[in-house]
Amino acid sequence: MRLNWVDMNNRQIKILPDVQALHQAAASEFSRCALDAIAARGHFSVALSGGNTPRGAYEVIAERQKDTSSQLPWDRIFIFWGDERHVPPDHPDSNYRMAREALLSRVPIPAQNVHRVRAELDAAEAAQDYERQLQIHFRLKPDELPRFDLIMLGLGDDGHTASLFPGSAALGETQHLFVANWVEKFRQYRLTLTLPVPDHAGEVLFLVSGGSKAPVVKEILTPQAEQKYPAQRVQPKAGSLLWFLDQDAANSQIIG
Ligand code: 6PG
Repeated sequence: MRLNWVDMNNRQIKILPDVQALHQAAASEFSRCALDAIAARGHFSVALSGGNTPRGAYEVIAERQKDTSSQLPWDRIFIFWGDERHVPPDHPDSNYRMAREALLSRVPIPAQNVHRVRAELDAAEAAQDYERQLQIHFRLKPDELPRFDLIMLGLGDDGHTASLFPGSAALGETQHLFVANWVEKFRQYRLTLTLPVPDHAGEVLFLVSGGSKAPVVKEILTPQAEQKYPAQRVQPKAGSLLWFLDQDAANSQIIG
């Protein structure tokens, strides 16, 4: 059974025995990416994923900071989010709140290095504000794209990623970096990066756990699969695309 390979679409696929191992592997990849970026360019800009899957990875990153041999230079690390729910920062559904609890409150990162989506604002205003934060941080000229060193993403069982849901308007957005996206299934706005941004990243890392994701994982990772899902449209033009799956999310047909 293959556990770690590059497929014909140049996707690096790693299958971990369980969700704990997935979190450990994701934490190691985060640190590797951070140290490489800081060595090469003096700083590391990362967009965190929301949802439940990455929480354990964030907790492992924080835990490892207790060991002086694996501490990261947090003053050189700049945190963003790939998407956010349209809720205040202290709301139970807030991706910011999850990352703050699991990681950011447990490491010595300067407050000004944490770029929160101001999701307490009107949705369009919050998106505009965040796009401005990206333009300032990355010193973007008009029409220039930010190049994140790492964008962490999850996968919904409907094939969405970030807050790019099937059939939603943001999927076709190419003029803005970050938008308010109406999600019919939730009857609410979500705030999300648009596809040109992960396509311009140095590395995109999908973290997927659980048997409920196995059918969509199989469809997406089967060679020459039909382009059906938003997650399939994330195709870094000059960057790496990694899929870390636990055993439950990996499907026997694609392991072979
Ligand atoms: C969010 C995420 C979303 C998530 C997937 C998977 O804001 O919820 O950005 O894209 O990654 O829905 O979520 P789970 O990890 O909870 O399965």
